[in-house]
Amino acid sequence: MDLVHDGFTRKTTPMVPLTRRALLAGASAGALTAALPGGVLGAEAPVAVLRSGLGRAHLEGSGRPAADLWLFNGRSPGPLLRLTRGVSQTVRVINDLAEPTTVHWHGLRIDNAMDGVPGLTQEPIPPGGTFDYTLTPPDSGSFWYHSHYKGAVQMDRGLYGPLIVEDDSPLDVDLDHMVVLDDWRLTEQGALDQRGYGDVRERAHGGRYGNVLTINGREQETLPVPADGWVRLRLLNAANARVLPLTLTGANAWVAAKDGLTTRLVGLDPNPLLLAPAQRVDLLIRTAAPGTTVALSFVSPQETLALLTLEIGDTVAPERTPTLTPAALPEPDRTDPFRVPLPMEGGAMGGLEGARHKGVRKPLRELAREHGLVWALAGDAGMPEKPLFTVARGRTVELGMANLTGWDHAMHVHGHHLRVVEWSQRPPQVGGWHDTVLMRPRENVIAAFVADNPGKWLLHCHMMEHHAGGMVTWFEVT
Ligand code: C2O
Ligand code: CU
Repeated sequence: MDLVHDGFTRKTTPMVPLTRRALLAGASAGALTAALPGGVLGAEAPVAVLRSGLGRAHLEGSGRPAADLWLFNGRSPGPLLRLTRGVSQTVRVINDLAEPTTVHWHGLRIDNAMDGVPGLTQEPIPPGGTFDYTLTPPDSGSFWYHSHYKGAVQMDRGLYGPLIVEDDSPLDVDLDHMVVLDDWRLTEQGALDQRGYGDVRERAHGGRYGNVLTINGREQETLPVPADGWVRLRLLNAANARVLPLTLTGANAWVAAKDGLTTRLVGLDPNPLLLAPAQRVDLLIRTAAPGTTVALSFVSPQETLALLTLEIGDTVAPERTPTLTPAALPEPDRTDPFRVPLPMEGGAMGGLEGARHKGVRKPLRELAREHGLVWALAGDAGMPEKPLFTVARGRTVELGMANLTGWDHAMHVHGHHLRVVEWSQRPPQVGGWHDTVLMRPRENVIAAFVADNPGKWLLHCHMMEHHAGGMVTWFEVT
């Protein structure tokens, strides 16, 4: 393949339109529906069980052929995992797949041995195998779990689910609802389109885009809410690669949390909100008068798809003022930071000539042909054998992230939350904490964090095809 003179750039995936095809569960498949309230895990059981396995689902109604999906406990999104801040919970993952897997608890600042990264923090769980994850989350908020073994394929096939960590004093609202968004690529027949898995051209572009957008595994949702009330919507983008532009109409709304962690309330700006893969945003919504509706929609220049409609009924909510306690994390100390330059290079039309792979410098042509690698992070294509940096526990790290490519990236750091402290372009994602930072083409940001969690931590693009295509590295906190 030729990354420099590619003729397919103009018909690249961002143009794949989303349609209104319903995603319906087959009777035999277990419900491919919202995990609430039937599928809550955690809460009280000493060991919660997550079983990854195959399932068949009629993706476009029972009259159409069933598609093969990979599911947690027979559903996608998997069951809602509900934990309590500071309380440890064991989650037993049983692997009924025909290939290995692991589970990563995205955004939880937990013990490194529980982080679920194969080859770095644990051995993959073999087919038929079991692994007990003990999770003691230090922060309340909205998180998620997903496969971290060949994630580009396993997550795309459905292996992910929502995770909420309850606070001791939860936000007092009339409706608290998790919204898990995903785009699926379906064939004309309604089956999961398996062509393109591992495709190097797709890796070198925006990644795998679907053509059907779902909310909690459904086409759309409608929920009743009282007038003059408060709603907390926990938005999660579980798509492999698509950045979702979302608008909320019909009510006043504020951002109450980013990537799980509560923040000072800020207005919805920019609107549409751009939700990158793996990011979460919690919205706090004030409902208006009876008879009106609030709509959460996907908007693009080509189309507007209503995802969630809140119908305001005649009951008036009891008077209350939800109060929010911003998450308390150690603030980065910028006086003497450990500075790490993090150039992001490669991709289609990126002009990358070569990069190191397992310590050996190779031309891009060879990296692409022999290893399917098309991106480099700090000069390395693919997971380096040695850490990008080693830092003493408690030190402030400043990542100088420079997106030298023509593509969006969603940069995710395991085990820590970051503050964006400097930026070069556009309305920045400042304010609050992030575990995943959206980087627009040619954008530079400095993201700072206190490296306070010992262990080996991954740093990668959460556009899963970019991760598979080499945009991944790791660091060690000693
Ligand atoms: Cu959401 Cu490395 O993962
Ligand atoms: Cu990327």
